[in-house]
Amino acid sequence: MYLFYTKGSHEVYQRKQWICLKFWLILGLLPRTCVSNPSKPNFLLILADDLGIGDVGCYGNDTIRDGIFFFRTPNIDGLAKEGVRLTQHIAAAAVCTPSRAAFLTGRYPIRSGMASSTQRRILFWNGCSGGLPPNETTFARILRQQGYSTALIGKWHMGVNCKSRHDHCHHPLNHGFDYFYGMPFTLLNECQGIDDPELAKSLQDTYWLYTQMIILAVLTLLIGKLTNLFSVKWKIVICLAICGLLYFISWFSSYGLTKYWNCILMRNHDITEQPMNLEKTTSNMLKEAVSFIERNKHRPFLLFVSLLHVHTPLITTEKFQGRSRHGLYGDNVEEMDWMVGRLLDGIDKEGLKNSTFIYFASDHGGSLEAHRGNAQLGGWNGIYKGGKGMGGWEGGIRVPGIVRWPGVLPAGAVIHELTSLMDIFPTVVHLAGGEVPQDRVIDGRTLLPLLRGTVQHSGHEFMFHYCGAFLHAVRWHQKDSGTVWKAHYTTPVFQPEASGACFGRGICPCFGDGVTHHDPPLLFDLLKDPSEANPLSADTEPLFDVVTRRIGEAVEEHRKTLTPVPQQLSPYNNIWKPWLQPCCGTFPFCWCDEESNKADGIL
Ligand SMILES: *[C@@H]1O[C@H](CO)[C@@H](O)[C@H](O)[C@H]1NC(C)=O
Ligand SMILES: *[C@@H]1O[C@H](CO)[C@@H](O)[C@H](O)[C@H]1NC(C)=O
Ligand SMILES: *[C@@H]1O[C@H](CO)[C@@H](O)[C@H](O)[C@H]1NC(C)=O
Repeated sequence: MYLFYTKGSHEVYQRKQWICLKFWLILGLLPRTCVSNPSKPNFLLILADDLGIGDVGCYGNDTIRDGIFFFRTPNIDGLAKEGVRLTQHIAAAAVCTPSRAAFLTGRYPIRSGMASSTQRRILFWNGCSGGLPPNETTFARILRQQGYSTALIGKWHMGVNCKSRHDHCHHPLNHGFDYFYGMPFTLLNECQGIDDPELAKSLQDTYWLYTQMIILAVLTLLIGKLTNLFSVKWKIVICLAICGLLYFISWFSSYGLTKYWNCILMRNHDITEQPMNLEKTTSNMLKEAVSFIERNKHRPFLLFVSLLHVHTPLITTEKFQGRSRHGLYGDNVEEMDWMVGRLLDGIDKEGLKNSTFIYFASDHGGSLEAHRGNAQLGGWNGIYKGGKGMGGWEGGIRVPGIVRWPGVLPAGAVIHELTSLMDIFPTVVHLAGGEVPQDRVIDGRTLLPLLRGTVQHSGHEFMFHYCGAFLHAVRWHQKDSGTVWKAHYTTPVFQPEASGACFGRGICPCFGDGVTHHDPPLLFDLLKDPSEANPLSADTEPLFDVVTRRIGEAVEEHRKTLTPVPQQLSPYNNIWKPWLQPCCGTFPFCWCDEESNKADGIL
């Protein structure tokens, strides 16, 4: 039902445009009203990492500093003032890897195999074999076909290699980007070499357990084989032993070597820093972004700046340290905002302001678990419950979303309609004159009519909130009444008041003893209760049964559209494989620093 509805309306929309086009072609005219903008705009897409919706000034974060009323993110707020601010902008997942896969492809991560059914929901290594499958189509690939110059600057975190160290099958250059400068992985505490290992912590329980299990299995088989108790092929015993060894090595090396294996910088296919020099990264990234804009000012371009801010360990240049009222985290937010300002300056300086579509968002909500001692190192999700890693609660998935395109989009508009990060895919593709792939389901809906105010409602009726491969919650925008319902089938067990939500686990789990199942589901009316504090029941809400039944039907319909695909985050695809490790020396001696001799820039 749901799919028919949206697909239908989308086709109608396209057909209308086509009829309109033919009509004007016959008259030999092609006015602006028909084709929304004849010249292809440039795109500057900025995605922050782990930024909470409550961190941003125009989403309500005002602060008093030195007795003066002060907004903490003046540049992002300025973007909203000149553009459109989305208040119900939803990420497809509450952790990086799947959310980013969905953003780039316009599809729920479960469709591309980027949703995990284990506790490990993000890629753990540059040297693992999982990643965004080569047959997924990113908006960058379509834009390149449309004559755009395309670049990714910053974080990728969607895999590097499949079978050998240099195949780069998951690499940004294999996904439609002409140019890449940044981290193929993500920032981690380990990158700074401080004593609070992030990766090792999240690996330790499962890794040690599996290693023990494998050792036990190998020993049993070996003894069985040698004493002729049962027959097994040597091949199997040896394979298992090698697996166990690899498992052990990757767990072990997560302590000391992560910095060398994961914290690296690349320019296109080349590694420029291994391990990366954190002090220089911010200024290098800005330089790269601004010079890309300068180089491409005469042709349409797509620049995706995927910021490393505001992920731990909160690398902040001296200039910004101690500036904010919110500790190191606040300083890092202010530095990020300053970076956004520099990017906007780069656009304005080249006279590209009116011809550039600028988008700002965060990949998911702030991390409640990130803190050291009493200092909160993760983002603030405002009035919303939960945070990073939690499948369905608003705090993990409701993010800032701002679009600016002067002259085409209204200035200072605020839209409360249901929108998704996945909507950027069809929006960007259509504006560039391309077509979305017809051979697969696209979950994003084009945003342009909504942003321009030519339609009242977004193309979304239902939205599915996954935790890994598990559906935790569903929201329904009931268009006739205007109500936004949300039903939670599963919720993580966490303590919102305690300093660290799912502390001790690093991140809340999606299944097992760390979650609670709800039958009937927990139902909320999001417009009346945005903090999801008071679940409705059949006694308090006359529509309870009708609403939960309708949502249940939508889930059934949605499930029918899913097909099995290779699991990119399976245990096998998500362990460290020495032969896939990007390395700029002779493995295992991987060390280089190509950037250090370059002159200091911007900062
Ligand atoms: C602003 O954000 C900081 C964290 O970045 C948070 O501690 C503070 O409570 C927020 N203030 C408001 C008014 O939301
Ligand atoms: C850019 O758009 C704004 C808003 O429509 C308009 O006032 C301004 O004149 C435009 N600038 C240029 C250079 O076209
Ligand atoms: C990509 O390939 C996999 C495995 O070959 C297949 O299951 C999947 O459907 C393909 N995806 C698309 C979008 O064609």
